[in-house]
Amino acid sequence: MPQNPKRYTITSALPYTNGPIHIGHLAGVYVPADIYARYLRLRGKDVAFICGSDEHGVAISMRARKEGVTPGEIIDRYHAMIKKSFADFGISFDNYSRTSAAIHHKTASEFFRKLYDDGKFIEEVTEQLYDEEAGQFLADRFVIGTCPKCGHEEAYGDQCENCGSSLNATDLINPKSTITGTKPVMKQTRHWFLPLDQYDTFLREWILEGHKNDWKPNVYGQVKSWLDEGLKPRAVTRDLDWGIPVPVEGAEGKVLYVWFDAPIGYISSTKEWAEREGIDWEPYWKDKDTKLVHFIGKDNIVFHCVIFPAMLEAEGSYILPDNVPANEFLNLEGNKLSTSKNWAVWLHEYLEDFPGKQDVLRYTLTANAPETKDNDFTWKDFQARNNNELVAIFGNFVNRVIVLTNKYYDGIVPQPGTFTEKDRATLAGLKKYPDIIASAIERYRFREALGQLLNVARLGNKYLAEEEPWKIVKEDAERVQTIMYVALQVAGVLSVLSEPFLPFTAKKLQQMLGRSGSGENAPWDAVTDGDDLLPEGHRVNKAELLFTKIEDQEIKKQLERLEQTRQENKENNKELPARKETISYEDFAKLDMRVGTIIEAEKMKKADKLLVLKVDTGLDVRTIVSGIAQSFKPEEIVGKKVTVLVNLAPRKLRGVESEGMILMTQDSGGKLVFLNPDDAVENGETVS
Ligand code: 2FM
Ligand code: ZN
Repeated sequence: MPQNPKRYTITSALPYTNGPIHIGHLAGVYVPADIYARYLRLRGKDVAFICGSDEHGVAISMRARKEGVTPGEIIDRYHAMIKKSFADFGISFDNYSRTSAAIHHKTASEFFRKLYDDGKFIEEVTEQLYDEEAGQFLADRFVIGTCPKCGHEEAYGDQCENCGSSLNATDLINPKSTITGTKPVMKQTRHWFLPLDQYDTFLREWILEGHKNDWKPNVYGQVKSWLDEGLKPRAVTRDLDWGIPVPVEGAEGKVLYVWFDAPIGYISSTKEWAEREGIDWEPYWKDKDTKLVHFIGKDNIVFHCVIFPAMLEAEGSYILPDNVPANEFLNLEGNKLSTSKNWAVWLHEYLEDFPGKQDVLRYTLTANAPETKDNDFTWKDFQARNNNELVAIFGNFVNRVIVLTNKYYDGIVPQPGTFTEKDRATLAGLKKYPDIIASAIERYRFREALGQLLNVARLGNKYLAEEEPWKIVKEDAERVQTIMYVALQVAGVLSVLSEPFLPFTAKKLQQMLGRSGSGENAPWDAVTDGDDLLPEGHRVNKAELLFTKIEDQEIKKQLERLEQTRQENKENNKELPARKETISYEDFAKLDMRVGTIIEAEKMKKADKLLVLKVDTGLDVRTIVSGIAQSFKPEEIVGKKVTVLVNLAPRKLRGVESEGMILMTQDSGGKLVFLNPDDAVENGETVS
């Protein structure tokens, strides 16, 4: 890791162009990455902040099929929309490219070809899943089935979103085509595999030994468990008609696996940027003094910490990421964000509904960032953060300072008199904040950093509230000059330190303070090193409100919209599953269902959906692993009477043997509900 990096390459996950951007994407990836990039620029660092649209892969093809249009139409529509909403939201990418760009096709093809020529792939004819009805091979999201690791029933052919495991489609239990719903057959096909197992030692040394202390525990832990399970060769080509053609003779009809081409998109986007700027792209990816950081969500960890680094290592001339600060997920009003269920706050809609309030969302998403665990966004919290923190603390302080400066001194920063102990302590305390906030940002603790920023405004508010210049202005004008001078310095510091988090506010504040274009090379450092930011005699402009109150009515409108979505989803769910085929009484009688009581319950480690239960079935006390963790807390179900299928063959779920099944149904909102017998029924009674 470069001790004193010469430059920074900051990437944020390339979003799929199969839908618009929502708050989950923003909180997980783009807002923290943008804070980091803006912070570094304020320190005068050489930064390439890179992103672009991820336009290949099955996600795009599926969306196109659903809408009956071509993949090209889908990517053009969403690329334009995503690019614009990021720009309007102030995400300061140096370049936002797309993987359909010619420069990307060329870069990815050359990368593949180099590995191919260097003999880094295994070429093999294997049996893959094939949908006979659709006449095509099934890979990635074209196939779902039960995850062999955690038992999640809707794992994709390349990844289980429940436990994060990286899978091969053939690993899935009970695979089903998402195109026709049929059960696939096996069919032979030739593919190229990256033998990940050969990179085990390299990955262990680099991550497990080299980054034990500086990578986030969630990232480190995931990587460790994959390595401990043993890596397998991974196919990097697919039989699909949408993607980058495999640049090898005899590979007609095959394309690069989207997770092979997408991360190379970071490199092609850097090239596109460098070409436009007239600079060399290579140092940003090949010089050891460059610090490379990937901002991603937790579902992307394996691709950025195992597969892409193995590709870079195989290629041989690239640097590796210094850190991969992956975030957990954000929920919305207690439920998982979902593009297909329209359970989201869409960025483009937010920008329309709350014009000029980009920073309020940036603030809320950072204050609530899912840095160490999944977190919840609620509209009430959004309103409270705006009204009680941004308006009441930050905005109120700045407004008072500028209004009073205009009122008392016609906008001219007054000459201070002798500083009291408190003045000196306030000014000295102020100058510590750049380091405090910098340290949090450099450790990727953006919530903590933002909390400290608000402390700067709190410091100013407290100072003014205690000194009360408005009370003594008549009798002690000289003292008030000093007080206002000190308070103005706090406002000046806020205008610099808030920029990474609240760029629109910072700009407005700098204009109000007459500091726009102040021309420092590293304004952040000027706060700690230099003189006070607003010297006596400097003129500030008129006060404008930085933040305005958000009324209940506006929040109500958003909540109503979500309620409508909930109702629509409920109605759509009314379509009951198709009736199953008739069975004989003998078949039914084989099921041994008993009344039981849950006597213990605890969460299964590293599995969002699973609870490990101890159930008294009247016959025995047994362990049952149940996929109900998202509907029930362990403590609320202990003591519940339940119906248990007791003669289901035991199976291991994440290493725990499950001996039976708790019978469940769901309510109209899709929430799981127990089939619970009356408390008067004894455990062990049969259900027939
Ligand atoms: O998960 C996703 O949304 C992917 N499109 C992220 C790709 S990141 C990168 F490697 F390009
Ligand atoms: Zn899983």
